[in-house]
Amino acid sequence: MCGIIGIVTGKPVATGLISSLKLLEYRGYDSAGIATLQNGTVWRERAAGKLSNLEKKIRVNGLGDGGIGIGHTRWATHGAPNETNAHPHIIGDVVIVHNGIIENYQELRGELLKNGAKISSDTDTEVIGHLIQNQLKINDNVETAIQAAIGMLRGAFALAIMIKGNEELLIGARKGCPLAVGIGDVEGHYIGSDALALSPFSRQIVYLEEGDFVFATKNTFKVYNESGELVEREINIIEQQSAVMDKGNHKHYMAKEFFEQPDVISHTLANYIDMDTNQINIDSKLDITKFNRIIMVSCGTAYYAAMVGKYWLEKTTHMSVEVDVASEFRYRNPPLNEKCLFIVVSQSGETADSLAALRLAKEKGCTTVAVVNVPTSTMSREADFILPTSAGTEVCVASTKAFICQITVLAALSIGFGKSLNILSADDASKMTMDLASLPRLINDSFSVEKEIIKLAHNIAKVEHVLFLGRHTSFPIAMEGALKLKEITYIHAEGYAAGELKHGPIALIDEKMPLIIIAPDNDTYEKTRSNIEEIAARGGDIMVFTTQKRAEEIRALGLKAIALPDSSDFLSPFVYTIPVQLLAYHTAVHMGTDVDQPRNLAKSVTVE
Ligand code: AGP
Repeated sequence: MCGIIGIVTGKPVATGLISSLKLLEYRGYDSAGIATLQNGTVWRERAAGKLSNLEKKIRVNGLGDGGIGIGHTRWATHGAPNETNAHPHIIGDVVIVHNGIIENYQELRGELLKNGAKISSDTDTEVIGHLIQNQLKINDNVETAIQAAIGMLRGAFALAIMIKGNEELLIGARKGCPLAVGIGDVEGHYIGSDALALSPFSRQIVYLEEGDFVFATKNTFKVYNESGELVEREINIIEQQSAVMDKGNHKHYMAKEFFEQPDVISHTLANYIDMDTNQINIDSKLDITKFNRIIMVSCGTAYYAAMVGKYWLEKTTHMSVEVDVASEFRYRNPPLNEKCLFIVVSQSGETADSLAALRLAKEKGCTTVAVVNVPTSTMSREADFILPTSAGTEVCVASTKAFICQITVLAALSIGFGKSLNILSADDASKMTMDLASLPRLINDSFSVEKEIIKLAHNIAKVEHVLFLGRHTSFPIAMEGALKLKEITYIHAEGYAAGELKHGPIALIDEKMPLIIIAPDNDTYEKTRSNIEEIAARGGDIMVFTTQKRAEEIRALGLKAIALPDSSDFLSPFVYTIPVQLLAYHTAVHMGTDVDQPRNLAKSVTVE
């Protein structure tokens, strides 16, 4: 992900921009840039590489002294990490920085080129600038022009914008990526990716909500919602030292990390998808043709991520993919050799059982890969290859964003391997890659079920047992949903393959047994539908997570269903993770358990 900052105080802002970018560099450091506006003139400096390269250039070339400015640290998604593609971008009167992925940027770019636009970079950000510039030509009102241009975008984004000739107005907009407003302790207003970016200037933080716009001057700021209505957003007071681990406007880290998922998926995808060529980039030295089997080993939630990956990898490599929990794997003396590709999945990169399994695999000659979230972890240092998840720091013991980034990596890996083995045609691989690139928006759209999930949570909070059922890639999601519920509400929950119900667990079914059934509309839907009817016939208290069309059918049977956004079957595990995470969270909140630090648990189990 990228980091963005905007400042409007009426006094020179350039040094403030740099100090904020230093706090944002954790979000990405492929390139950096700042721009200020004064008397109709833009001053801009950009540099490829780390922020220190930009500072060197500024020391030589000097600083603009405009009273309004924007800055950016980049993690390249579209366009190489060079100076041409570095933000801020200047298009006519528009000066803009952006975090996120615009999915329909190719078609927008083609339209602009057809109409004679001169596009100088490979970024999706520049396309946004052209759309705004065009709207400014037909709308006298800047706010209308901005809202009209941004309404054409599909994807996830956070923006900070300045308009030449309008030097007192700093503009921000967000959809799918976080953006906050800081009310200056001393003066002015600030816009930034997070509270950390704003912490040098402000203790009063306003977190913009989905679809919000903000128009700020040095004395005031106005927030409009997606429908263009003027709205009031809560002002949060944050302490300086907590800015790093700030919960944002959420009650718990779990909620903050849950809602960060669209943004961190974008960041993770940026490691693996070249958005310009729409190709998956996996380290070419990780040559899948050298192996004849894959073993994935992990614990807990990471194990369920590996289970999802198994379905994809078997489909795209035609290899046997074995998945095991680390604590079993390391003691069963598994047959391993150099033809085996060993993949360990771990958020912390320190879990004792998973680390021991990695070491055993290395001893036995396997090539080892670590899918990890902490780049400085032991597993990152010891594995032959690292496939990073870029979920950022995950504070809550119950994993949400790390899990979804783990399956994001495994999805990209399955496409990359499928292409290398010529099992996936270039066209199939390209289609699956485009599908994957739409994930931030799809996840963002899935948040719409939250109100219905809260109602369900109030009922689940009263029970002692819950069954989660799913088939195919929904089976691991059922397991993950049960784990999430168990670990933060202490309600006993079990995840089961839906087809297994009749082999014993169906004996548990009565009107007191709630069942959460994950049923995307795919090849196995009809089979799951039969399970639903078997359960209904025995009075089970059913809630089905499915698509809109199937939800209507289920409700027509007098049963309960919650409709999730339609998606490809490939992306269904991502979509159906959202309601099970929300269910666990809201049940725990309703019950008053310790959401972020549940009893008996630790974030990283570094002992056996
Ligand atoms: C996830 O919600 C749990 N906290 C736990 O199952 C965790 O996934 C497991 O301990 C593995 O941790 P790791 O990913 O850091 O290896």
